[in-house]
Amino acid sequence: ARKKIKNILADQIEQYNDIIVMGWVRTKRVSKNIAFIEINDGSCLKNLQLVILEPEEFPLAEINTGSSIKVTGYIDKVEGREQSVEMKVEQLEIIGEAPADYLLQKKRHSFEFLREIAHLRPRTNTFGVINRFRSKMSYAVHDYFYKNDFKYIHTPIITAGDAEGAGEVFKVSTLDFKNLPQNDQGAIDYTQDFFGEETGLTVSGQLEAELMATALGDVYTFGPTFRAENSNTSRHASEFWMIEPEMAFCDLTEMMTLMEDFIKNLFNFALQQSPEEMEFFNKWIDKGRQQIIADIVEADFGRITYTEAVDILEKSKADFEYPVSWGIDLQSEHERFLTEEYFKKPVMVTDYPKEIKAFYMRMNQDQKTVAAVDCLVPGVGEIIGGSQREERYDVLKARMEELEMDLEKYQWFLDIRKYGSVPHSGFGLGFERLLMYLSGMQNIRDVIAFPRTPGSAKF
Ligand code: 4AD
Ligand code: MG
Repeated sequence: ARKKIKNILADQIEQYNDIIVMGWVRTKRVSKNIAFIEINDGSCLKNLQLVILEPEEFPLAEINTGSSIKVTGYIDKVEGREQSVEMKVEQLEIIGEAPADYLLQKKRHSFEFLREIAHLRPRTNTFGVINRFRSKMSYAVHDYFYKNDFKYIHTPIITAGDAEGAGEVFKVSTLDFKNLPQNDQGAIDYTQDFFGEETGLTVSGQLEAELMATALGDVYTFGPTFRAENSNTSRHASEFWMIEPEMAFCDLTEMMTLMEDFIKNLFNFALQQSPEEMEFFNKWIDKGRQQIIADIVEADFGRITYTEAVDILEKSKADFEYPVSWGIDLQSEHERFLTEEYFKKPVMVTDYPKEIKAFYMRMNQDQKTVAAVDCLVPGVGEIIGGSQREERYDVLKARMEELEMDLEKYQWFLDIRKYGSVPHSGFGLGFERLLMYLSGMQNIRDVIAFPRTPGSAKF
């Protein structure tokens, strides 16, 4: 029967006969009387060692690193020593050859180099681990919400709105670029974008999630979101995956309790259910990672207001490049100080000035700040942005007018506040930033298989 390497290594069986394994060759060593081939089938980090006792009987010369093969044989398990599991090969079939110039030879390649061969990098140890980890953590997200009775909703990718109002929408167009329509002045008529409507790729599913929450109670999205932001940093991507829970009858404080519980559950899941990957990160990516994550599960997150944060930063002796004063948007150097120097753990910062936050956030009594929360973590910075939403029709409308937004376009959003409006809150967790934090990986391009950043749409 066909077997996955992961199961072979986990099984307690003493002897296997007539098993079939398929995978890709990692190494080959041939001598006169014996040959060894290591293969990996993607099921786990470990390779399976194949032993060939009569090398001249097999087409070994045609097998290179990267080739795919199918082998049939048997295994005698040496008791108590998983490492020594070897499969004796009786039949070997080459499924796909690989020429000797295969780019992934057995040595450590830099992450920069691997980004240039993104079509092959999933076959390396590190990216095998990362992609399996990503898959498991996706499951963990759904598992958490399913157990807490949240409904998984699907919000549109193509949308007319700009949920964040930040002007970072990628346009979606049905226009024929070789034959662009012109208006009366002879300029390109972009109003005909999407069969006559102006549309773009979603920057966040939040507005639609709010709508669904006011019908279903507790909902969440988990899907790709897009930002046309031409920034070249190690933590921004043009396409990233976001998890956005939205809760009706829920204020900021209740939402923050859920946020902390959610993060801790995900961390716990990583430690308990994904030990192979966490051990790998601990050993090869960032020494001590497992302990850092375990400690966070035990400790309370820091909680401060924006005003308190500014106060701490102003009083600190740190020499910031960007000067601190009430009203500034916190820069990464400030976030780093708060999380790495001051709290030395994740911190939730609340009640930001309304000017630096999105239009939909609930106005506080002081009329200067809004009921926003950002969760900042050491090493990565902001991993979550959220808020209590403005549920008061008149207040929201006035704010949108103040920002000169197209009220007609967002009338449906205002309508939610007209018919049975309720206090509601939600947040967005950047999935890649979560993975960066858990793994210790330093670049967002290395936790997503096909990173979309300015200048990298090839693969
Ligand atoms: O703070 P943001 O922009 O908030 C929202 O989009 C809200 N609508 C979420 C909500 O309340 N439902 O983004 C939320 C998170 C950030 O904290 C960050 O982790 C991630 O999304 N994020 C990015 N990740 C990678 N690349 C980018 N360009 C990102 N922009 C935001
Ligand atoms: Mg944000």
